[in-house]
Amino acid sequence: MYQSKIAGIGYYVPKNVYTNHDLTRFMDTSDEWIQERTGIQERRFADRYAETTTTMAIEAAKIAIERAKTTAQDIDFIVFATLSPDYYFPGCGVLLQREMGMHEIGALDVRNQCSGFVYALSVADQFIKTGMYKNILVVGSEKHSFAMDFETRSRNMSVIFGDGAGAVVLQPTQEKGKGILSTHLHSDGADAEILAMYYPGAHANKWMKDKPPFPDQELGGLFLTTEQLESGAALPYMDGPAVFKKAIVKFPEVIKEALSTHSFTEQDIDLLIPHQANFRISQYVQKLLGLDDNQVFNNIQKYGNTTAASVPIALCEAWEAGRIKDGNLICLAAFGSGFTWASALIRW
Ligand code: UT7
Repeated sequence: MYQSKIAGIGYYVPKNVYTNHDLTRFMDTSDEWIQERTGIQERRFADRYAETTTTMAIEAAKIAIERAKTTAQDIDFIVFATLSPDYYFPGCGVLLQREMGMHEIGALDVRNQCSGFVYALSVADQFIKTGMYKNILVVGSEKHSFAMDFETRSRNMSVIFGDGAGAVVLQPTQEKGKGILSTHLHSDGADAEILAMYYPGAHANKWMKDKPPFPDQELGGLFLTTEQLESGAALPYMDGPAVFKKAIVKFPEVIKEALSTHSFTEQDIDLLIPHQANFRISQYVQKLLGLDDNQVFNNIQKYGNTTAASVPIALCEAWEAGRIKDGNLICLAAFGSGFTWASALIRW
């Protein structure tokens, strides 16, 4: 059985910075409210036309591949996590394969929202462990801005999310005790609809606010009327406080599960990289686990919540800043829509 290690890592964020003050041009909000409730100061939004979830992923992937001292042609599998794909189908994995000129390798898209990257890493880890693949590209990328509503009615969501991408290359390692020690994946669909985008799903009309979209049709009809679109019927929905309450329970739970699997304690963690959902959530988790400030990495202040991209972007920034050293114990943890939550323990 092989062990997998992160051989290369990269991230990309668009150059367009939107501060909290900038958002007050579009909706009734304030820098004070956003900073106090979320810790966010600014976020990046992709170019509306030139950049997509796939193009951002490619930029991050190029860096990860170069740092892994390999080439796009040597990648033998792709796992792509996103909730904001370029198309409803096919997924972004094949688009990345095409644009990077890779061989006809397998490309898998993961639909696990905020915990998508940790799920994707876990999938890749299993393929490396069994010896099936030797160079897997794992990506988390999001272009949230394309589907976000910048009117006051959606301000609880639109001030939180940002765009960006992160990527790693996983390879087998011979070094004993190094690399991904374990991953831990969970879900509970009981509250699937409280953080969701129903349209254009096959069951959308059950949940969309406003009237059911296709009352007069016997069959088919995926398109909304202009009135329905304008009323915001198809916008993403989030019950923020309910998500918050669940997150502060499941984050510590899945981190402790990872630690106890290896008989580690909280004090053994050199760096915790939590999914950047809300700075208050990170602080709560830090306090509950009794971690010092230097044991937790946060960058939500600069990028907001980039969903599947947030963990690899934070991991890469922490590594570039020298916060991750050879032999360190790194814990990745995420929670989000589904609900799904996950952790990974890595000996760097
Ligand atoms: O990535 C994983 C998934 N997502 C999350 O983990 C998000 C978890 N939830 C949260 O981070 C927080 O619930 C939010 C940041 C979304 C909201 O913060 P909150 O402290 O839970 O606020 P709230 O939704 O309870 O709203 C409090 C008030 C409301 O006004 P009233 O009814 O008290 O008059 C909202 O209308 O704040 C209002 N509000 C805003 N005011 C200014 C909501 N959004 C905004 C805004 N600016 N952007």
